[in-house]
Amino acid sequence: MSDKKRETFGSKLGLIMATAGSALGLGNIYRFPCEAGANGGAAFLIVYLVIALLIGTPLMVAEFVIGRRSKSNPVGAFRCLASAKSAWPLLGYLGVLCAFLILAFYTTVAGWTLGYLGKAAAGHFSGQDLPAIQRQFADFTNHPWLPVVCQLAFLALTAVVVMRGVKDGIERWSKILMPLLLVIMVVLCVKSLTLSGAGEGLAFFFKPDFSKITGRVLISALGQSFFSLSIGMGALITYGSYISRKDNMVSSAVGVTLADTLVAVLAGVIIFPAAFSFGIQPEAGASLAFTTLPMVFQQMTGGYFFCLMFFLLLVIATLTSTISLLEVIVATLTEELHLSRAKSALVGAAGTAVIGVLATLSFRTGSPLHLGSSTVFDLLDHATALYMMPIGGLLIVLFLGWKMNGLRKAIYLIIRYLAPVAIAVIFVSQLLMR
Ligand code: PHE
Repeated sequence: MSDKKRETFGSKLGLIMATAGSALGLGNIYRFPCEAGANGGAAFLIVYLVIALLIGTPLMVAEFVIGRRSKSNPVGAFRCLASAKSAWPLLGYLGVLCAFLILAFYTTVAGWTLGYLGKAAAGHFSGQDLPAIQRQFADFTNHPWLPVVCQLAFLALTAVVVMRGVKDGIERWSKILMPLLLVIMVVLCVKSLTLSGAGEGLAFFFKPDFSKITGRVLISALGQSFFSLSIGMGALITYGSYISRKDNMVSSAVGVTLADTLVAVLAGVIIFPAAFSFGIQPEAGASLAFTTLPMVFQQMTGGYFFCLMFFLLLVIATLTSTISLLEVIVATLTEELHLSRAKSALVGAAGTAVIGVLATLSFRTGSPLHLGSSTVFDLLDHATALYMMPIGGLLIVLFLGWKMNGLRKAIYLIIRYLAPVAIAVIFVSQLLMR
């Protein structure tokens, strides 16, 4: 480990903002409504809240601790903290693989946000009715090269920021722009809630029907909370390794979890009332956010401006997430294989591009990029969120809870007993209750 040369975050706020930057992104605004819509709305929300707060926060702390103690990338971290010949470093490799696979399909949607930023700037949504806006989504995602170009542009942007290093690249981006995104979302919320028929959407999102909680809902909520909080795959071990001082990581983790949850709930409060009001199915899937949001803007005074600002900030929120994903790969390549930062970023981005383009093209109607009924995109999404992250998270809490000591009492008990049991029960229940 080249300890002396490693960068660190400038302050506690630096860690919080970088972690929030990683956590806030498409997971909150695109994937959360998608999952909630497909899994019964309020029933999903309740399970999600319990898991995010009770398992998510302690797991986040666990990753920070592992990162700070080892001052290393996920692979090096387990090698440094576990006994010499143990299998724990494999857990680090699982995390790096997971970062790579997430980045591949995440940049598909990241590319769409870039495309939609262009559409917003060109005023493509103004005066359009629902069928026209739905057609725009279908045409864009079906286009033979445009979404691929957008995806590659997004990856290039990510690589450029990551090449410049942790402090300059990552810390600075997150500080002012995330609060601004929150402001726009509150404005959107108000608009959405005043649409006619909004009440039905609110009931869908907030009035739980407990009979709808199935194994599928449990695992989806578990996967979504891990995905949204960027946990279970080493991104926060990597960020934790840049902590320089003995700051209180529990309060940082609680703060980020609350902020992330708030943004996801806000996204639900924007999307479901509006979707019900316009007659968009909550189970619409990938198109849900990309049709509902333009419809809301289209009905607002100043809609052009808000739409442009929203997609600009969404691109930035997404970028701070892709940065944290690529950073896992880059930290590992620079420290384990001693490649330069620039080379590592290029290798990471190029590797991602190969799989990522397949994920993007798998959205085209009639595309052969399917396995059974799932697209390559869905396969990557399910493999990471429903399998790799829960398993990674389970092993991380087991490692910290049983192999290391010196944690605070309450959080230690959760990490040692509650979190592993809860994750294991949910994971096994969904395997059995198909
Ligand atoms: N948490 C990010 C989001 O919600 C996605 C992500 C997952 C980022 C895993 C890093 C690691 O958009």
